[in-house]
Amino acid sequence: MALLQVQGIRKSFSGLVALKNVNFEVREGEILGLVGPNGAGKSTLINIISGIYRPDSGKVVFRGREITGLPPHRICRLGITRTFQNVETFPELNALENVLVGALFGKRNGDRSEALGRAEEVLRFVDFPQDKLEVKVKNLNVGELKKLQLARALATEPKLLLLDEVTTGLNPKESKDAVKMIRRIRDSGVTILMVEHIMRIIMGVSDRIVVLNYGEKIAEGTPREVANDQRVIESYLGEAYSFEG
Ligand SMILES: Nc1ncnc2c1ncn2[C@@H]1O[C@H](COP(=O)(O)OP(=O)(O)OP(=O)(O)O)[C@@H](O)[C@H]1O
Ligand SMILES: [Mg+2]
Repeated sequence: MALLQVQGIRKSFSGLVALKNVNFEVREGEILGLVGPNGAGKSTLINIISGIYRPDSGKVVFRGREITGLPPHRICRLGITRTFQNVETFPELNALENVLVGALFGKRNGDRSEALGRAEEVLRFVDFPQDKLEVKVKNLNVGELKKLQLARALATEPKLLLLDEVTTGLNPKESKDAVKMIRRIRDSGVTILMVEHIMRIIMGVSDRIVVLNYGEKIAEGTPREVANDQRVIESYLGEAYSFEG
């Protein structure tokens, strides 16, 4: 059975239809890429799955249970955590404290010392610089912030991690490291649904890809299938994507 099922999702914002009848599944253990032009509805879909928006119609089913319309903290406790396209943190808290919030939030009976251990562990796991654990988050650079928000998400111990543009703003070396990190997270047993703009990254890291355009799913398949899809080429890629070079 699929880990997550998105069924017939529709969402409009005062007349503007952001998603229409979107259907797809996320399989346990996969990295599913979600792509499409600006305004295609990718972040809206992440917001619906994570409970920030309620869809006008349609269902979200996680591990066989309908979660449509549940508040974000309940969805998080069930095992779905997300990162934000624009990194959101508590700027006056230090890095460790920010991750501690995640560690305490995900757990039903928050034991502080256990949560602290978990926060330190995930910060090491994402290669966050150990000498900056007590630096206020407002003083971190973008690469450090991206690691921090990954760590905070992982601290809640998700089954499904929703990533919205984690490599945006990173330099090529940092992006490469981020891709390695995403694979490591998957290999540790977390299923991943990720939105990403850079074709080379999404084609290289995804097991399957879903393509949205103006709120509609226009293609779904392996990176090669999607890259050769005529509608995807016309509406998004512009030209056939080359896997070489
Ligand atoms: N809270 C909101 N209120 C009004 N309109 C919204 C809201 N959120 C999204 N939209 C609109 O819905 C459409 C889809 O937006 P969304 O942010 O989901 O796109 P996206 O695929 O994530 O784009 P990008 O690649 O630029 O991040 C856009 O036209 C956007 O302006
Ligand atoms: Mg977006």
